[in-house]
Parts: sequence; structure tokens; C-alpha cells
Amino acid sequence: MNNTPKVIWFIGLSGAGKSHLSDLLAQALKVKAFKVERIDGDLRRKTKKNSDFSKVGRINNNLEITDEIKELKDVDFVIVSTISPYEEARKAARERLNHYFEVYLSTPLEICEERDPKGLYKQARSGALKNFTGIDDPFEVPLNPDLSLSTEGVSPESCIAEIQKQLQAKKWID
Ligand code: ADX
Repeated sequence: MNNTPKVIWFIGLSGAGKSHLSDLLAQALKVKAFKVERIDGDLRRKTKKNSDFSKVGRINNNLEITDEIKELKDVDFVIVSTISPYEEARKAARERLNHYFEVYLSTPLEICEERDPKGLYKQARSGALKNFTGIDDPFEVPLNPDLSLSTEGVSPESCIAEIQKQLQAKKWID
């Protein structure tokens, strides 16, 4: 029970900064000699060839990740980056995982759309891509994130510093 991993789960719109901040946080924790696993929604969907973005598909996708985490052994931290647009799936993760810390990247849609790193917002606006989160598919703003951060005009390093402060307050790190 005590050695179940501590899970830091980044949620938010595509382009909010989830993967980048997750990678930076993973590096920072590895430097402190922790064993860290990363689970990235985009990468995972590529390897699993899962393109089901229906409500049920997304909830199941998030629940599957929760189940995968429960199987992990000898890991200190798991850092997850997925849109996770539905409270139902996030609530289930919080209930099922022993140590769950939710970081909501509240970066506004306009900024995510301006960044558009994968050109997906453009495709969604043109109608070529359907059911895209924030455009024609919902994102339920979380009710009780452990931390809410906008990355708009804030350096990644400041975001990581803020997260680390919170992890210290929880006594997850020194
Ligand atoms: S989740 O909704 O099930 O949590 P997940 O994080 O796994 O989503 O995957 C999101 C990634 O899939 C996005 O970063 C984007 O690159 C890609 N993607 C493709 N189609 C969509 C879509 N319709 N809505 C959102 N993301 C999509």
C-alpha cells in the first residue's frame, strides 16, 4: 500500500502545455533519484491505434490508464498527460488511486489555438477534424483540481517551481 506510486495527472486542452510540463517535471524528479514513469495520451493513442474520441471512448481511455497505473510496481511517481475532459473519469482516478494529484492547466482556448502545435485546431475549425475538444467537443472544467495553473505568459520553469512547491507541501518531495 505504502509503495504505490504517487500520481501527478496533468489535464487540460490540447496545446495547454501538459506534455511539455510533464516531461520537465519527470526530469526534475529523476534528478532527485526518483523512479518516474510517464504516460502521455497522444503517444499512447499512437501505439494503441486508438482513435475513439467519443465520450465513452475517452472515459474508457482514462480508466484504462488508471488500471495500468495500479499494475505498476517499484515506481515512485507516475506523471500522466491526457486531456481527460470528463469529471467522471477524473473522479474515478482520484477514488481508485492511492495518491492522486491533479494539475489542471487552465490555459485559455484562444492561447491553445494560437499555439496549435499539431495544426489540429485549424483542422477542427475547417471541419476536417470532428469532435475536437474545445471546438465541437466538451471540456468539463474540473471541480476540485489540486492545482490550477495557466501557462499563458508564464515560463515552464515557473510552472514547475509552483508544482514542486505543492509537492513539498504534500511531503511528496523534500
Ligand atoms: S482524452 O480525451 O482521451 O483524454 P488523449 O489525451 O488521450 O485524450 O488524446 C488527446 C490527443 O489526441 C490530442 O493531444 C490530439 O493530439 C489528439 N486528438 C486527435 N483527435 C482528437 C480529438 N477529436 N479531440 C482531442 N484530441 C484529439
